[in-house]
Amino acid sequence: MTFVPTRKTKHPTRSTPSAHRNCRRCPGIRSGHWRWPESPSARRCSPSSTRRRPGHQPPDTDAPFTAVSPLRRLQYGGMGDGAGLVGRDSEIEQLRAALSAARSGAASALFLIGEPGIGKTRLATEAVGLAVESGIIAVRGRVSTVGPIVPYRPLIEALQALSRTENLPELESLGTYGAVLSRLIPGLSDPLGSTPSAVGSPVVVAEALLRLLTLVGDKRGCLFVLDDLHDADAETLAIVEYLVDNLHPAPVALLLASRAEPCAATDLAVISRQRGTATVLEPQPLNREQVQQLAAQRLELGADEIPVDVVDRLTTGSAGNPFLVEELAYAFSKQGFEEADGPAVPVSVARSVSRRTDRLGPNALMILTTAAVIGQRFPIDLLQHATGAAEGEVVATVHAGVGAQLVQSDSPAPDWYAFRHPLTAEALISDLTPSERAGHSGRVADAIAARYPGLPGEWCARSAELRERSGELAEASRLYAEAGRRALATGAVRSAITLLVRADLDPDGDPEHRAGPAR
Ligand SMILES: Nc1ncnc2c1ncn2[C@@H]1O[C@H](COP(=O)(O)OP(=O)(O)OP(=O)(O)O)[C@@H](O)[C@H]1O
Ligand SMILES: [Mg+2]
Repeated sequence: MTFVPTRKTKHPTRSTPSAHRNCRRCPGIRSGHWRWPESPSARRCSPSSTRRRPGHQPPDTDAPFTAVSPLRRLQYGGMGDGAGLVGRDSEIEQLRAALSAARSGAASALFLIGEPGIGKTRLATEAVGLAVESGIIAVRGRVSTVGPIVPYRPLIEALQALSRTENLPELESLGTYGAVLSRLIPGLSDPLGSTPSAVGSPVVVAEALLRLLTLVGDKRGCLFVLDDLHDADAETLAIVEYLVDNLHPAPVALLLASRAEPCAATDLAVISRQRGTATVLEPQPLNREQVQQLAAQRLELGADEIPVDVVDRLTTGSAGNPFLVEELAYAFSKQGFEEADGPAVPVSVARSVSRRTDRLGPNALMILTTAAVIGQRFPIDLLQHATGAAEGEVVATVHAGVGAQLVQSDSPAPDWYAFRHPLTAEALISDLTPSERAGHSGRVADAIAARYPGLPGEWCARSAELRERSGELAEASRLYAEAGRRALATGAVRSAITLLVRADLDPDGDPEHRAGPAR
């Protein structure tokens, strides 16, 4: 039976949060994020990295720093579907504090660092919305994640946006620095009439940008967002470093987002935190309740309308990553809740994982796909046995996988690694044809048999599964039966039954042999 989502569209007329808790048009209330009215304590803000400009007169310090309204969510929602932000209360609190500080003439710098899909861009969008709502000028630039690196790209984008929205001040007032900036913006005439030439040293551009932002934020504060800095060109990063170090006394909140991977941007975040010039926000995976809320939003259902086992699968499958929650929820909405195994790995996830894996080196896809066939956790020496690759290559690939946020070391075992998201391993496997999958499974089963004689612990059942996938049904039956017998010996009756049922695989097999010793 296919599940048909039912929409609730009733919008209560009573203006209390509880009256609107189940209202489709007020997602912020359902997520518990929108407080109504906001408590005065939530408005008090003094981030550690905030520095006030001497003599700056806040324009309107008594005006309430308003919470995000559902209407604004419709305007700025990350998916463009009006979906509300789930969780992230402490991050929003810090963003509000930084914006409030900018409005009062104080500088602050915040880094947003986190794994892909965790919601950095979503939070940046939220910050832009909050800024716009309270009259702060918001400007953002984004590093291109496709195509070759373009120097200064995020800065050019930001400047063009300022120009487009007529928030770009007269560049003449910046003297020679105005000339520097005008060269960055195609189509803008050089205010000093100089001939366009090379932009010049990043330090000069950085100082020019700082003076511009100070001017932009003069009366009401400015939010400057730079996203995807992990892919930024060296020049942009040099400018970012200069801005972070010299932001005081500009009335500017600087919001800098980067993936948590080894790169110059994350190094800069660490150094800036150490120097006390920036705060680093690290959005964490959503908890089970938040996963349920997010899935309910995307499916346009009440949270309690999603079956418990579906919430479990969404939580485990996504490891709390909002992007994966959305992808899985989407897959469920296409396939229905009734499918026993749940949806396949979403195509977009699979594509992104294999693209990222492919970039790690010539044999990376083969090595990490073999790792995925071993399981979500895998020991590195077994991986080497199964791939037949040189030890150095396997280690280098796995380390590159750690850098690319695909795998992580699985302490406390020193040479064990695990895929960061269960879906990553599934995505790699989903790219294989059935015969490739059978071949990989057979090779991994052989490697396990050679590496772990007697198949101790979980290796027995895992080998059974692999032999089944490789089409060696008689051997798979024998191993399932052996694993079932061992489970029974420990008193794990339910597992034993499950394993023994699975042992009934090979219609031609000899039942007497099925429970024999492991190979
Ligand atoms: N807290 C949240 N509440 C609701 N939706 C969220 C939340 N966090 C993220 N999302 C949604 O999850 C998806 C991925 O988020 P986002 O693009 O912000 O991730 P990211 O960290 O910027 O990833 P990347 O590193 O790939 O740029 C988006 O569709 C976004 O709207
Ligand atoms: Mg992003």
